[in-house]
Amino acid sequence: MSKAASRIADSSLADEGRQRLEWTRTRMPILRSLKKTLEEERPFDEMKIAICLHVEPKTAVWLEALRAGGAEIFITGSPGTTDDATAAFLAEMSGVNVFAKREETFDDHIEYARSILEFDPDLISDNGADLHSLIHSDFKHLKTKLIGATEETTSGGYRLREEIESDSFPTIVINDSRAKRIIENRYGVGQSVVDSIMRSTNALIGGLRAAVIGYGYCGRGVALCLKNLGARVTVVDIDPLTRLDALLEGFNVAEKAEAISGADLVITVTGRDNTLQTEDFERLSDGAIVANAGHFEFEIDVDGLRNQARSESRLSEDIEKFSLASSKEIFLLGKGRPVNLSAGEGNPIEVMDLGLALQTLSFRFLVENGSSLRNGPQNVPDEVERMVSELAFEAWK
Ligand SMILES: NC(=O)c1ccc[n+]([C@@H]2O[C@H](COP(=O)([O-])OP(=O)(O)OC[C@H]3O[C@@H](n4cnc5c(N)ncnc54)[C@H](O)[C@@H]3O)[C@@H](O)[C@H]2O)c1
Repeated sequence: MSKAASRIADSSLADEGRQRLEWTRTRMPILRSLKKTLEEERPFDEMKIAICLHVEPKTAVWLEALRAGGAEIFITGSPGTTDDATAAFLAEMSGVNVFAKREETFDDHIEYARSILEFDPDLISDNGADLHSLIHSDFKHLKTKLIGATEETTSGGYRLREEIESDSFPTIVINDSRAKRIIENRYGVGQSVVDSIMRSTNALIGGLRAAVIGYGYCGRGVALCLKNLGARVTVVDIDPLTRLDALLEGFNVAEKAEAISGADLVITVTGRDNTLQTEDFERLSDGAIVANAGHFEFEIDVDGLRNQARSESRLSEDIEKFSLASSKEIFLLGKGRPVNLSAGEGNPIEVMDLGLALQTLSFRFLVENGSSLRNGPQNVPDEVERMVSELAFEAWK
């Protein structure tokens, strides 16, 4: 098995990465048991898997399981979410090739995504549909070669259905499973987003006036977590039934302009670009903290904020201050990238154990049934979802 040249920030961090994984493995019992099964069955022997997923310790534990199943792996991450120590550890692993740096730009990200597709994978795991988009433009030959694909997140699911023309291979959208939406998006994202805001700001949450824009699975988790810590939460959503749901859950519900003008903390989590636009920034309260929890860094128009700011400065690795023409000061966390990854350690380990088990068994399902499946985006097979939910229940009860 040839080893391609990895593109990472600093290979001297490999030992640090190794230590981080030691802790992470102890909290991932589902993948531990699947790894044993994969070692015996070797379902991915001789296969190349290209993966776009946050390069961090939980993902690395998943790659160990896929390697045990026989796969050769090519992985890239997302801008601002790579743990460079994990990337260095992975670059030393036999059969794993890494293209990821924490400081990469969106253009670097696309270049790295191209690099992993150049290895002609048999399976892909996408996150935000960037690999799918490239396959449709510049890697068309893969459309007939691929056994199938998975897509991790809500935003990728939207893109596959709304923007990308029909596929000639099946894509299992992990996010569409109830298990992922309820366990990861609601409980995992809620906790980790609030945790990253607390760590990066050291601010008291109790009493804060918070606006959560987008009350889907992730937004609901974020709003509930803030409420449980004593914040006064206002929810904004464009969908009337979702607004009603938030109201009955006990939240204030308002239009965006009203919600943000009184808020100390504003969090976007819609999965849609420009949720917070140029004209919104002057409406924010003086001293407002702003963060994004959605997948793409374009949910807050950070370029628009930079352009209209009179001055900007960095107060810490995770906090940037923008002074607006009105003299208001706005504090942006994690550069507008998903805050739980850019200013925290990502979702709690256990929920990713469950999510990555869905990925693993979906890959195995594709290998066993790929040719009989219809092409295009589709839900996680019931049998996979049931098996993973049972494994999680047994492990956590
Ligand atoms: N940070 C993470 O770890 C993480 C994990 C999972 C998903 N995500 C991402 O979080 C985002 C949200 O995911 P989800 O599963 O909650 O999606 P969802 O579809 O369940 O919810 C999105 C909500 O936003 C609302 N919305 C859309 N546009 C809006 C607008 N302009 N203003 C107000 N509300 C609007 C929708 O009506 C919907 O209720 C996606 O980008 C997803 O990929 C992030």
